[in-house]
Amino acid sequence: MRILKQPQPLLSAERLQSRIDEMAAAVDRDYAGKELLVVCVLKGSYIFMADLTRRLTVPHEIDFIAVSSYGDGTTSSGRVVVTQDLQHDVEGCDILLVEDVVDTGTTIRFLLDDLHKRKAASVRIITLLKKEGVEEEDLPHVDYIGFTIPPVFVVGYGLDYAERFRHLPYVASLSDIDGLDRGEK
Ligand code: IMP
Ligand code: MG
Repeated sequence: MRILKQPQPLLSAERLQSRIDEMAAAVDRDYAGKELLVVCVLKGSYIFMADLTRRLTVPHEIDFIAVSSYGDGTTSSGRVVVTQDLQHDVEGCDILLVEDVVDTGTTIRFLLDDLHKRKAASVRIITLLKKEGVEEEDLPHVDYIGFTIPPVFVVGYGLDYAERFRHLPYVASLSDIDGLDRGEK
């Protein structure tokens, strides 16, 4: 009898949640005595940001910036456009920039430059995922990394493929989605 193996998600909901516990504790430690502006990079980071901030004890406000660099494909266009701006004037603020995934670094490079131009007091980057394959020296420094993953296209837990699969509670590679519960709505 052939036993068909169900693919496992790359990162289960349980692994994500316990790693975010650790990440929030690290942010709390590093920002003790300070106040933070947590900036969520829409759309992919919205679930990570919600789970992260609910664990933080340092006082913080939140804001959102939407950028687009991927269009509907799975390869970067290399060009970043702000499609929805922050509400805060960030001059003098200590900012924690929340990303879903750092791949080529194009998005965070653009945002770091933009926030420094707006005279933020400090900017640190927290990302749930970082893809292997791009040399460290070619990337801006990333202060907190949840998981380093192979350079495959992933969906779930906020990340989409053509706006689909954001709601999945786990992270899966797009190629495994067929064998998993797609949970399509
Ligand atoms: P970078 O600019 O190449 O570092 O890519 C970062 C952005 O591209 C992320 O903020 C995502 O919005 C998107 N992205 C990169 N890789 C993936 C992926 O595997 N799935 C979904 N979105 C991705
Ligand atoms: Mg993103």
